[in-house]
Amino acid sequence: MAEHDYDLIVIGAGPGGYVAAIRAAQLGLKTACVESRETLGGTCLNVGCIPSKALLHASEIFHEAQSGSLTKFGIDFSGVSLNLDQMHAEKAKAVGELTGGIEFLFKKNKVDWLKGRAAFTSANSMDIAGKSYTAKNIMIATGSSVTPLPGVEIDQKVIVDSTGALALPKVPKHLVVIGGGVIGLELGSVWLRLGAQVTVVEYLDQILPGMDGEVRKEAAKIFKKQGFNIRTGTKVTGATVKGGTATLTVEPAAGGASETIEADCVLVAIGRRANTDGLALDKAGLSVNGRGQIEIGHDFQTSVPGIYAVGDVCPGPMLAHKAEDEGIAAAEFVAGLTGIVNHDVIPGVVYTYPEIASVGLTEEEAKEKAAVSGGEIKVGKFPMMANSRAKTNRDTDGFVKVIADAKTDRVLGVHIIASIAGSMIAEACTAMEFGATSEDIAYTCHAHPTHAEALKEAAMAVTGKPIHM
Ligand code: FAD
Ligand code: NAI
Repeated sequence: MAEHDYDLIVIGAGPGGYVAAIRAAQLGLKTACVESRETLGGTCLNVGCIPSKALLHASEIFHEAQSGSLTKFGIDFSGVSLNLDQMHAEKAKAVGELTGGIEFLFKKNKVDWLKGRAAFTSANSMDIAGKSYTAKNIMIATGSSVTPLPGVEIDQKVIVDSTGALALPKVPKHLVVIGGGVIGLELGSVWLRLGAQVTVVEYLDQILPGMDGEVRKEAAKIFKKQGFNIRTGTKVTGATVKGGTATLTVEPAAGGASETIEADCVLVAIGRRANTDGLALDKAGLSVNGRGQIEIGHDFQTSVPGIYAVGDVCPGPMLAHKAEDEGIAAAEFVAGLTGIVNHDVIPGVVYTYPEIASVGLTEEEAKEKAAVSGGEIKVGKFPMMANSRAKTNRDTDGFVKVIADAKTDRVLGVHIIASIAGSMIAEACTAMEFGATSEDIAYTCHAHPTHAEALKEAAMAVTGKPIHM
């Protein structure tokens, strides 16, 4: 009889956990995955990436049809109206198909789904819905949840988190978003396009923290032009709700006179924090760092041998593709192979219109590093306004920026604002993964007419001149 029930039990079936479980099973390990939700796929498929992209897509089409922006192409609509229930239904259908797809993949790969919440009872065992299970290896992939804002209680009616904002039963008149980060701008865009007035209250002096400075500035300009009311350097100090209306008290982040803002909907989107509550980590001999995350080594193993962790519960960007890649690599380590994730080349995409995508160092980070090492950087930029396809499609907002080491010409970072920046960034990732120089990109033949040619021209601008500028 086997010593343990499983070779590997993965806790959590989000992009980190479900991918790890499938990879481990493919590598011949007897694998189970614990998930307490009624469907697989975690935050990403159920209440994150997928439903948000469904609403972003649908609201974009609605806005195009309704705003008259297609008239210039000779396409006239009359009587465009919103059926929000149908929009939600189509979103739910996409979510259902994708979460059902994971269930199918589990069956196909012989991964057991253990339903319920897992709590450690030792470094090799856990309790799930009153039953005990043992495993030679355990992987924690419990993800993250919304960071609460003291004084602004989420009721999922008037004051909502991202999950509530993905399911509003009607378009708010005035939506106040607390936090000018990725969730605030994506979900703010959805409701702005569907007719809400949207105010973004951001604590810092610019939106989109962590992104390239020039990108942050340009993005703010574009969002303001679209109708977002963006209030940076402002903090919310409290909220009261009465009769379906929230009254928020706000004041300058640096302190000063307070004022009130009324809204029929408030979205709290000030970040997310690792999920470790109820896991009884201490029973396994584990603890969390100062930010509540589980620390791991290069092999994704925690301080306890045989216990691994991946995804949002660990340090690093909270992104589905980062979680997935870590899940694959960690499963490979469990199976005795060497898994690899290059954490220097993880793209980030904000799915607003236009999209904002970035990989590698920002110009500020690259300059700072160069100053320390005595090196220099070069920057090439190309505006989408000068890209023939963007001009033809009438989607000319944005630019491409390539940052390279001045001496070696190696690409250090790429930042794009463009209608399809999220797709364009993949080329930059591949180039950086292969250690490309800006010249490598500049001398690569790009199909014409495509938005991707803007990346080629920005790369040309690093050491010389682009053609179309
Ligand atoms: P999760 O997806 O959070 O999955 C963890 C799972 O573990 C959950 O299902 C949870 O129920 C389960 N669990 C937790 N504790 C236990 C327990 N004790 N027992 C059993 N099960 C447990 N990222 C992108 O890359 N692109 C996007 O477009 C994008 N959009 C997003 C939009 C929104 C609105 C949000 C909120 C997030 C978005 N993200 C996006 C982030 C992305 O969803 C996360 O980075 C990703 O889901 C992390 O994967 P994970 O596997 O680490 O955790
Ligand atoms: P975020 O970290 O992107 O943005 C939070 C914002 O809130 C920051 O700008 C921060 O300065 C601000 N803030 C913090 N406290 C505040 C306060 N008290 N008052 C006003 N502003 C305050 O976090 P967000 O948007 O909640 O997203 C969480 C995570 O989900 C992100 O880390 C992101 O990686 C992930 N995500 C990714 C998406 C994508 O890849 N397209 C889409 C949505 C979420």
